[in-house]
Amino acid sequence: MLVLPFILCLLSAVQSVTATLTYSNLQTHVDVLNLEFSFNPVKPSYWTGYGHHRRIACALSPDGKSIYVAYLDASETDVHVQEVDSSTFLAIGSTVTVSGCKEAGGLVAHSDGFALLTNEPMPSGTANAPPSDTPVPVLYRYTNGAQSWKTFLGGPDVHPKDVLAASPDLNGDLVYSSESGLYGAYFVITDYTSGHFGDSIQYVADNGTLVIIAGATGDWGCSHNTGIAFEAADQPPYASICAEDQGAIWLNTLTQSMTNNGVKISNENTTNGGSGEPMGGMSGSYSALAQFGDTTKYIFAWVSRGAMDLTANTWMGGGYTHSLNRTNNRNVAIALFSDKYTMVDSQATSQVGAEDGDSQVNWVAKGSADCFNAHAATFDTENALVTWEQIDNPTCEYIAMGCCGQFSGTYFQQVDSSGKKIGQPLMSMDVYVAGDMVTMSDGRICWPYINMDWDLSGPVDEGSGPTTTKMSFACMNSNA
Ligand SMILES: *[C@@H]1O[C@H](CO)[C@@H](O)[C@H](O)[C@H]1NC(C)=O
Ligand SMILES: *[C@@H]1O[C@H](CO)[C@@H](O)[C@H](O)[C@H]1NC(C)=O
Ligand SMILES: *[C@@H]1O[C@H](CO)[C@@H](O)[C@H](O)[C@H]1NC(C)=O
Repeated sequence: MLVLPFILCLLSAVQSVTATLTYSNLQTHVDVLNLEFSFNPVKPSYWTGYGHHRRIACALSPDGKSIYVAYLDASETDVHVQEVDSSTFLAIGSTVTVSGCKEAGGLVAHSDGFALLTNEPMPSGTANAPPSDTPVPVLYRYTNGAQSWKTFLGGPDVHPKDVLAASPDLNGDLVYSSESGLYGAYFVITDYTSGHFGDSIQYVADNGTLVIIAGATGDWGCSHNTGIAFEAADQPPYASICAEDQGAIWLNTLTQSMTNNGVKISNENTTNGGSGEPMGGMSGSYSALAQFGDTTKYIFAWVSRGAMDLTANTWMGGGYTHSLNRTNNRNVAIALFSDKYTMVDSQATSQVGAEDGDSQVNWVAKGSADCFNAHAATFDTENALVTWEQIDNPTCEYIAMGCCGQFSGTYFQQVDSSGKKIGQPLMSMDVYVAGDMVTMSDGRICWPYINMDWDLSGPVDEGSGPTTTKMSFACMNSNA
């Protein structure tokens, strides 16, 4: 009976070899797309000023033949949208410029054009506009290169009795469901009458009408939201997650807020409104939540310092806790949902006095390296790709914010729909995830990035650093 363990061992060794992602799974198209305008690929983050990849919004057209990318002009005004051939990654036609806007905050591709979530100042002379031309969230629809409509999602005429919303930074995402014919946009806002920060979920019909949907629209959800994950569903409410400033990350599809009847995905130490940039912080909040093909299942990836020593959050009351971070660095976590309302594993505990605040977490990467810029995308109904960047020897001066140090690689780990890791992660020193990850018709996952040195040694200045007129794309093949 010595033979059996030997065979099992051999079998599992063979499986793990064939299952691990290798460099042959990763295709790169370096500097393939010439941009008509220049782009600054680095944006300083909230609080620390450490550089983040400036988001390149990216979306696949329904026929799978083209992708669209949207990027902010290096001058920091105007967003440029370019259609790209999804097999060659070369430009199709010329760039469409959406003038006056300040950030590429989400993109949906259609067979005849695109919809862009962005932010821009209200027209001059608008009564009750935000002070100092603070930009307001807005959704644009372009058809065959021309604007067909534009709908403000904040400013004086949107839920005026509730809050008046502006978005100095457009941290959020845009999704669309052809089944419901509705765009959903989830984004961070500031109430420009009080100065408080929160978030907003708004739905817009195909014809550009802002529609108020009870149980789906949310005018003021998670306090000082610093991270959003959002994915479409057949009908509203769409699947949504927020990171708030009281100590938790919530699956808030049901609540559109941070009320304790939502699903508490994790406890996080929050300090100065931050919770460790779980969904990427400034310029993050894309490709954090992904649906497994046409199933009802979703996967969510984030980074966390863990949670221990829970204490009562007396301001918020029952169901809310404060916690200490367990680690100095951030590790990579995933959560699986059987549908848009339901977490597969148990929720995070709210038991005051508990040492353990994070035993429910499924860690994908755990060690002493700082992990950040985590994303998830799905290959098909059963397999997903989780990716993150690492600093192996981080300096983490700021609690609940990012760390600095020498970039040590981008990691790619395949997981299955039960959250189990398949093989080892693949590491690349020169491929980054700097924009939405899209699932192509052939099952590959592709995303845009800029070919550059990645300096994470300290703070960067807004608008400094080299700009570029070349965009690169990378694609990962599933090994399943
Ligand atoms: C736009 O679509 C909405 C939602 O389907 C509908 O209620 C409204 O009547 C439409 N407006 C116009 C002008 O067609
Ligand atoms: C976050 O953790 C730090 C120590 O690491 C602690 O001083 C602070 O009180 C914690 N924040 C909350 C809200 O518990
Ligand atoms: C909590 O995080 C801060 C910032 O990274 C770090 O200085 C501190 O040592 C961490 N606490 C523990 C228990 O690791």
